Amino acid sequence: MRQVHTFSAMVLLVTLLLIFVYSNLHLETSYSLRAGPEEGLKHPSDVKTQSPKQETHLTTPRPGVHHVSVSDSFRKTIPQNVAYWNRLLYSALRSLDKGEKPFRNATDWSRCREANQELLQTNVHDFKSYPALFQDFVQGMNCRSPPVLVNQPNKCNSAEGKRDNQTFLLFAIKSSPGNFERRQAVRETWGRERMYKSGLRVRTVFLLGSSSVDEPDLSPLLSFEARRFGDLLQWDFHESLLNLTLKMHMLLQWTLKYCPHASFVFSGDDDVFVNTPALLSYLQSLEPSKASQVYVGHVISTAVPLRDPKSKYFIPLSFYDGPYPAYAGGGGFLISGALLQPLHLVSRVIPFFPIDDVYAGMCFKAAGVSAEAHSGFQTFDVKEQDRENLCVYKDLILIHQRTPKQIKKLWNGIHSPLLTC
Ligand SMILES: *[C@@H]1O[C@H](CO)[C@@H](O)[C@H](O)[C@H]1NC(C)=O
Ligand SMILES: *[C@@H]1O[C@H](CO)[C@@H](O)[C@H](O)[C@H]1NC(C)=O
Ligand SMILES: *[C@@H]1O[C@H](CO)[C@@H](O)[C@H](O)[C@H]1NC(C)=O
Repeated sequence: MRQVHTFSAMVLLVTLLLIFVYSNLHLETSYSLRAGPEEGLKHPSDVKTQSPKQETHLTTPRPGVHHVSVSDSFRKTIPQNVAYWNRLLYSALRSLDKGEKPFRNATDWSRCREANQELLQTNVHDFKSYPALFQDFVQGMNCRSPPVLVNQPNKCNSAEGKRDNQTFLLFAIKSSPGNFERRQAVRETWGRERMYKSGLRVRTVFLLGSSSVDEPDLSPLLSFEARRFGDLLQWDFHESLLNLTLKMHMLLQWTLKYCPHASFVFSGDDDVFVNTPALLSYLQSLEPSKASQVYVGHVISTAVPLRDPKSKYFIPLSFYDGPYPAYAGGGGFLISGALLQPLHLVSRVIPFFPIDDVYAGMCFKAAGVSAEAHSGFQTFDVKEQDRENLCVYKDLILIHQRTPKQIKKLWNGIHSPLLTC
């Protein structure tokens, strides 16, 4: 009798031990699956299996847990040559391949700028001939953690504080401090926060930098706006074209931290018109395997750097030499929530590029995702003769560039019961 007891106690012990070992093994494999950006990208809902503590650490991935890899097709697209950015990239890739900590150090915001002009000139022989703003960009390329001025930490929590009312689509709209009227037009129309039919929840944030000392101080107006509407995000970096890549980076970081369950994110400008119902039906029609790989918009596939110093998008040859990977125009494109983490990981290896949508395209390609064109995204506008035809807009998803008044008019127009197409 006694022996039987001892025996069953041992069987029990061994079983418990096996269960323990197995559950740990299981944890390991699910981790490495989640971590690899190229293998099975998971839908945001999969992240639910994590404990809340791990969720809050999503933005500071620990090496070893999240394995970064940069796709071969990205490496093939970007030539290895003497241009500064190309050299920076390949030096980061070499450390990555050697298994060294690939992540850039999160440099202190107050000390991230390269003040040593001589060093820059050694690296870039004609640095002095770069336009002043471009020099400024190069000096601040390692600045990635601006102070937060306005935040909405509870944006994606439902009113009941539960996570089950998931955000289906997050509109993350690039705006700038003075664009009050544009933001209001978006709030009253396509960016209105609501639950659409079939229970799809849409939420909206506007991403702002800060004004310079030479501009009027709008902060009292902005803090009123932020309280009244709860949709402003602001960081303390100067609002400018060449800082839009930093804004893109903050979009990824903010969403991973505060809205990690969003199924889709729309990144776009505050002066576009979006046909939200058409956009939602498109997203809803996607197969699950497709839905986790979305990088869709107006795709520019054969772009090269512009070498005219007077151009808005001028890139000096000694800075970057090579083509641009196919990318979706920054006026408005869609991202799967499942891709945010892989994008954020590769973005820590890829140096900042002065054009935000090109940079986004590089990160997607490095994460193994190609841009997909959708004819509903008209970032370069519709044909002249179609501009007044509401039926044309009814089937489109995005049109660039509209005034606040035009946005209101179009929105009311496509929703009019009198519209017959
Ligand atoms: C990151 O910081 C460590 C320690 O401060 C330093 O040794 C290393 O060179 C830095 N790496 C980069 C890429 O700056
Ligand atoms: C979301 O919240 C609403 C009430 O605000 C509730 O009626 C609905 O059932 C919730 N949806 C889910 C999926 O829990
Ligand atoms: C970007 O923002 C930083 C911080 O405000 C500023 O120092 C820098 O001049 C800005 N860069 C450009 C190119 O405007």
